[in-house]
Amino acid sequence: MLIPVVLSGGSGTRLWPLSRKNLPKQFLTLAGDSSLFQQTIGRTLGLIEATAPIVVCSEDHRFLVAEQLLELEVKGATIMLEPLPRNTAPAIALAALQALARDPHAIVLVLPADHLIGDEQNFRNAVASALPVAEEGWLVTFGIRPDGPETGFGYIRRGEAVPGAFRVDRFVEKPDLATAQAYINDGNYDWNSGMFMFRASRFLEELERHAPAILKAVRGSFESASVDLDFVRIDKAAFVGSPEDSIDYAVMEKTDRAAVVPVSCGWSDIGSWGALWSAAEKDADGNRLEGDVLAIDSHNCLVRSCDRRLVATIGVQDLVIVDTPDATLIASRERSQDVKKLVDQLKAAN
Ligand code: GDD
Ligand code: MG
Repeated sequence: MLIPVVLSGGSGTRLWPLSRKNLPKQFLTLAGDSSLFQQTIGRTLGLIEATAPIVVCSEDHRFLVAEQLLELEVKGATIMLEPLPRNTAPAIALAALQALARDPHAIVLVLPADHLIGDEQNFRNAVASALPVAEEGWLVTFGIRPDGPETGFGYIRRGEAVPGAFRVDRFVEKPDLATAQAYINDGNYDWNSGMFMFRASRFLEELERHAPAILKAVRGSFESASVDLDFVRIDKAAFVGSPEDSIDYAVMEKTDRAAVVPVSCGWSDIGSWGALWSAAEKDADGNRLEGDVLAIDSHNCLVRSCDRRLVATIGVQDLVIVDTPDATLIASRERSQDVKKLVDQLKAAN
């Protein structure tokens, strides 16, 4: 049984002021005509071998998730509610335990809820290629050909070929710029897409080996979870005891059972306004204009008016301008990663 797991617990701070605590980016319609979360769920519905998904999200977003699933007429989904965020290793462990309860041989396909995928056919082909590799007991990652020394991604060095994939020689999460540049020059590194496929039981074994404290706390929180309608409410007292870590650091950097399936599917991680501008369709001036916007002699900008207010620009370039009812962001497109710093300052001030 192939069970899609959609990770939807991130806070998306770098897309402030649109992405907010109560409505993080994955639930917003940023590109296309449904939210990133809905597009992710939609892609799982196109996988013929897959069952209804497991969604892991914050308790605070339970109604958003339920409503967005209802709009897609998805039936039979399990929505696991985290009482607090503990990053992706605990979230995936919860989903793996839930998947095992459905089927002891379950294979899970872990998908972040904040990616855009332009070529769904190639995505489906990659999933089909990965399935037998995961069945063999590998922890499969999907590798993307890098186009620059991005420091926000994991890097995977391809090793020897195994049937349908390559062994992962090295997995390095978020290297510094000089290291990332060296990997690009080397030519044998892919970006980790953040999508994974493995036997649920296999992942838990690797977690036991490399991060036993996470598994112990998560197992306890799962065993004392309460089920209410489609929601599985994770026990806070036990879950809070889990160390906070991502799958990348906790497992992927350490395991010797990782394999990479290369995929070319128009993938992009919508991590910042700059990334959204890069992935989006633009007009002849290189602008992405949304809402009530008038741009004269302006180039390579992303301008979004989220209210009824008109936003107008003259003679500017490489800017991000996002206007919402209670906050306006004006930033250099190149600096849009730093929105996180701004949000941290705002949090500290409140
Ligand atoms: N349920 C849950 N709980 N989901 C979470 C949590 C959590 O505590 N923290 C993050 N997520 C979700 C996010 O919403 C997102 O969909 C996904 O997990 C990945 O988390 P990010 O925080 O966006 O990770 P990242 O982008 O920094 O890094 C990962 O993705 C990159 C590609 O986009 C890593 O896997 C990198 O290696 C990879 O290159
Ligand atoms: Mg991300």
